[in-house]
Amino acid sequence: MKRLLPLILIICVAFPLVAWTNSSAFSQESTQEEKKHDDEHEELEKEMKRLKRATRRLKNSYRNEKAKPEDVLPNLRKCQKALLTAKVLFPSELKGDKNVKKRNDYQTIMIDCLMASLKAEKAALAGDMKASAKAFKEMLSNQKSGHDKYRE
Ligand code: HEM
Repeated sequence: MKRLLPLILIICVAFPLVAWTNSSAFSQESTQEEKKHDDEHEELEKEMKRLKRATRRLKNSYRNEKAKPEDVLPNLRKCQKALLTAKVLFPSELKGDKNVKKRNDYQTIMIDCLMASLKAEKAALAGDMKASAKAFKEMLSNQKSGHDKYRE
C-alpha cells in the first residue's frame, strides 16, 4: 500500500491540477482571441462609417454639374484611407482556415473599390469630372457587391 501511495497522489492531485492549468490557459487564450475579433469588428465599423460620411459628400458634389476637382479630391482621399485600412479587417464569419477563399474574394472587392476611387481621383486631377463621376459610380457598385455578399 505504501508503494502505491505516490501513484495515488499523482492520479488524485497532479493530474487534475495539470488539467485545470491547461484548461485555464486555453480559456484565457480564447478570451484574448474573442477580444481581438471584437476590436477588429469595431475598427471595421469605424472605417465603414468614415466611408459613409465621405461618399455622402461625394454624392452631393458629383450631383452638382459645376463641381470642381478640389470639391471631390479630399473626400476621395478619405475613402482611399478607409478602404486601405478596412481591407485587412474581416467580419468574424470570414475567420478560420476554411474561409481563405472567401477572405481573398472579400479583399478583392475592397481592392476594386479602392482602385475605382483612385481612378476617380486621377480623372479629377486631369480635370475630367465626367470620368471621375463614372469611376465614383464604380465605387458604389463595389460597395453593393461587398455588402450583398458579406454584410449581414
Ligand atoms: C463606398 C464604399 C462603402 C461604403 C460607403 C460602405 C458603408 C458601410 C456602412 C455605412 C456600414 C454600416 C456600419 C455600421 O455598422 O454602422 C458598412 C458595413 C459593412 N461593410 Fe461597407 N461600405 C463600403 C464598401 C464596402 C466594401 C467594398 C465591403 C467588402 C468588400 C464592405 C463590407 C462591409 C461589411 C462586412 C460591413 C459590416 C460590418 C459590421 O459587421 O459591422 N463595405 N459599410
